[in-house]
Amino acid sequence: MPGRRRGADGAVPAGRPDDTRLVDRFGRVATDLRVSLTDRCNLRCSYCMPEEGLDWMTDDRLLSDDEIVRLITLAVTRLGVEEVRFTGGEPLLRKGLETIVAATTALRTHAGEVPQTALTTNGLGLERRAKALADAGLHRLNVSLDSLDRARFARITKRDRLPDVLTGLQAAAAAGLSPVKVNTVLLRGVNDDEAVPLLTWALEHGYELRFIEQMPLDPQGAWDREGMVTAEEILTALQTAYRLTPTGSAARGAAPAETWVVENPPAGAPAGARAPRVGVVASVTRPFCGDCDRTRLTADGQVRNCLFARGETDLRALLRGGAGDDEIAAVWRGDMWAKEAGHGIDDPSFLQPDRPMSAIGG
Ligand code: GTP
Ligand code: 5AD
Ligand code: SF4
Repeated sequence: MPGRRRGADGAVPAGRPDDTRLVDRFGRVATDLRVSLTDRCNLRCSYCMPEEGLDWMTDDRLLSDDEIVRLITLAVTRLGVEEVRFTGGEPLLRKGLETIVAATTALRTHAGEVPQTALTTNGLGLERRAKALADAGLHRLNVSLDSLDRARFARITKRDRLPDVLTGLQAAAAAGLSPVKVNTVLLRGVNDDEAVPLLTWALEHGYELRFIEQMPLDPQGAWDREGMVTAEEILTALQTAYRLTPTGSAARGAAPAETWVVENPPAGAPAGARAPRVGVVASVTRPFCGDCDRTRLTADGQVRNCLFARGETDLRALLRGGAGDDEIAAVWRGDMWAKEAGHGIDDPSFLQPDRPMSAIGG
């Protein structure tokens, strides 16, 4: 969040990174680690993954559970990470997920707190795993869902699994993994008429819905600005049915989602701990890179300082080559120091990363 940037008294001297935190040249401090646990997925959303022809990472390329835990431990205990989010592909496909979560929540941050843990999942299999994840100490989760229409869901994801996602969501709420958030990507001509029905459904179930502008991270390289449903279009659609009040930048901090309180939720919506709200992640039309607090680790052990980074730093080779924690921490800091100011989607020279979203993690 903006408050996490170093103030005048704690300023990092130019060219000399702080050795206890992941600081970049622009004064941002990465405290949110996003760990991809696998590049595999059991759905095939077109904007994230090709339907076929994708070569999965081989087992020898993937970090083991112990290697992942070592890197998370280093990030939390030596590099100032405070929150850890597990992503994929689909992180529920990783057998050791509960073990990794439990090892993470056993750590303590620089401030002596339990690191906050979260999961971004498609919800398949959550019905069976939600309780074990909560028992392992997971704090909350976000479930991706683009349509409430079964045939449409199957068309977007290439799999007829909507009922499993809905039961997974219920199991997450029942296990206390709240607030349960739902992520929706609207696609023009496919599901862009569902903004209001999805919000009504989410409010009625006590889920926090966030719409995400589609980003140029699709495997086909077919993204274009005209095809993308913008934050403005989404808000205009929502306002035909709902009165929205912005929660403001202080409430947002470094979060990707801007949020609005829904002043007129449907009758019968459950009374939650806080006022019902809706979010929009407008990475393209309202970039939030200036407040970014994220660092990413891929399933094959590469640090990425940005979703759109063109380069990566190989921690797996260091781990397997016997490097000590000091060396690994220094290399991780060096990668973050080089982070660009922003994603550059608007630059004529913009190039999509070589990895699709499924191999980076959301
Ligand atoms: P919370 O609101 O704290 O639950 O987290 P979150 O919004 O970061 O989580 P989630 O993984 O559900 O991400 C929601 C959407 O925001 C996904 O499409 C992400 O890819 C996108 N997103 C997350 N982090 C970034 C980021 O650093 N940059 C950009 N451009 N998009 C991001
Ligand atoms: N643009 C925006 N969001 C995406 N996601 C996957 N690919 C894209 C993309 N190209 C979202 C998924 C999920 C999260 C991990 O990222 O819908 O909610
Ligand atoms: Fe951070 Fe890169 Fe996302 Fe911008 S695009 S918010 S810099 S990860």
